[in-house]
Amino acid sequence: MCGIICYCGKKQAVPILINGLKRLEYRGYDSAGFSVVSEPGKSKSNKVRKNIIVKTKGRVFQLENKMEGIDIDATYGIAHTRWATHGKPSHINAHPQTDCSGKIGVVHNGIIENYKEIKEDLIRKGHVFKSETDTEVIAHLVEEFFTLCGGNLENAVLKTVQKLSGTFGIAVIHSDVDHKILIAKRGSPIIIGVGENECLAASDSNALAPYTNKMVYLSDDEIAVLTPNDYYIKNLSNETLDKKVEILESNDYKEDKRGFEHYMLKEIFEQPESLENAMRGRLIEGEGVSKLGGLEPVIDRIKNTKQLIIVSCGTSYYSGLLGRYIFEHLTELNIEVELASEFRYRRLKLNEEIAVLALSQSGETADTLAAIKEAKRKGALILGIVNAVGTSIAQITDAGVYNHAGPEIGVASTKIYTSQLVILTLMALLIGRYQGVSFIEGSEITDALLKLPGQVREILKEAPQIEKIALQYAKYKNFLYIGRLFNYPTALEGALKLKEISYVHAEGYAAGEMKHGPISLIDKNFPTVAIAPDDLTLDKMISNMQEIKARSGKILSITNPGVKKVIDISDDIITVPRTIPILQPVLNIIPLQLFAYYIAREKGRDIDKPRNLAKSVTVE
Ligand code: M6R
Repeated sequence: MCGIICYCGKKQAVPILINGLKRLEYRGYDSAGFSVVSEPGKSKSNKVRKNIIVKTKGRVFQLENKMEGIDIDATYGIAHTRWATHGKPSHINAHPQTDCSGKIGVVHNGIIENYKEIKEDLIRKGHVFKSETDTEVIAHLVEEFFTLCGGNLENAVLKTVQKLSGTFGIAVIHSDVDHKILIAKRGSPIIIGVGENECLAASDSNALAPYTNKMVYLSDDEIAVLTPNDYYIKNLSNETLDKKVEILESNDYKEDKRGFEHYMLKEIFEQPESLENAMRGRLIEGEGVSKLGGLEPVIDRIKNTKQLIIVSCGTSYYSGLLGRYIFEHLTELNIEVELASEFRYRRLKLNEEIAVLALSQSGETADTLAAIKEAKRKGALILGIVNAVGTSIAQITDAGVYNHAGPEIGVASTKIYTSQLVILTLMALLIGRYQGVSFIEGSEITDALLKLPGQVREILKEAPQIEKIALQYAKYKNFLYIGRLFNYPTALEGALKLKEISYVHAEGYAAGEMKHGPISLIDKNFPTVAIAPDDLTLDKMISNMQEIKARSGKILSITNPGVKKVIDISDDIITVPRTIPILQPVLNIIPLQLFAYYIAREKGRDIDKPRNLAKSVTVE
């Protein structure tokens, strides 16, 4: 939530900041702005540096339009794209926020929990506030401490950060301080990009990738000072820290939509490769087992684990739900799956014999982060499956596995869902082979995994046919998605895809639950999407589908080729290739992603940036 980009160097800052904002817009898109310090001009009237803030309600292109015909000579500055938390989207609430003097610019990602107390105190001291944001207190606090610290911005920011509670990634500039940007982190990401005669910082490495591949990841309660030629990092006790420079792999950065109309469609079509990347070097075919280097340091602890608790949110939660079935099928572990936002409030008896596994595309989801911090405090082994390298969740885990799926820009998660399912299977296979899973069973799984990318390609070839079906269903206002066992999570995820990008009401249900309530919704205007592969639950699924037909409900089924029982009872059919039951959901979700996409496109929705949402949810 919210994207930050900073530049300090010798080049013109504004185009770099705007370009960075475009790459970060997926994180929040209700307003955008920047603060740069202009170079002193030659004329007498313009001998001093000025903090120039330009911002707008709306998208980055609106900010860009605002800049037409305006030339600002500035070589350092900070910028922000917002997902509103405190105060509605408006010009005044847009970041950067400033202080009474107007010399300070502050951008912030996160929530300052004690902002009310700080604000009241600062108002008593004479500060005048203009916005409804929590962020504005940071600007006024820096102003206050800047004076007390004799004009030392670094000390002023350090003292400010010490006063704040909550979460933040922040960047601060002051027009009296030449070519210095202060950044700080607690709970929300901020990464330094080290360039040639320039330093940058951003909420994610993708925004820095066009300028440098040298990244330094700040940890919580660290602040950094950026200048054109250097940077240094300190902790809150004012001690200088030596942090590793990490090199961003070139395939971690992808620039454009590669000819697709939307990132979401591109990412759906990237799934054959993202699945290959999830498995690359991780299967030992001749032994029917997987190899996950990231888990090796803790493999003995994993072998002794009695219980695995999966924590995650949204789509990652649904892949966790399927993970439960996969682990139950292949291992002896007791498995629980918990919404991360609930987990941290439960009175769980955690200890070192329990492992907690966080699933997260962004690696920054605040609820998931809070859940694993809680579990760590209680001694559990913390594992992760994370896509974004070096992020907060990845840093906190004891061990983990990266998806290597490349950036997912569309707000609706697609390629990460299927990649998570494959990695969960690899993990379960690894553990299961130390337990009851035989070589033969293991080999069946590795064979099936290796066939998946090709099978996904076959489904994607059917996209035009899926589009035709989707357009027939685009007129309906409500949908029920049903599935059983491995495909119950598929029903939940299919419904989430439709609702989040098309704004059409859709409910996912375990098919057996339908008769306990939701069936009362069914009539000829309330279609059902039935995920009905040819597995051992098929007969029960058919019974549920008959119950729907008896109430004049229309049925679109996802099934395997030639399943006559399903063909006979359905109004429309999409077929997907057969695989082993635990992996069938990887294939079943692909047509449902496309189905949601085509309905949303027909409705003219903003598919990559659906209303009210953001890609990286860094508030609890
Ligand atoms: O980055 P994470 O995987 O932790 O994100 C979790 C959810 O916010 C995310 O999956 C969300 O539900 C997606 N918009 C769903 O498409």
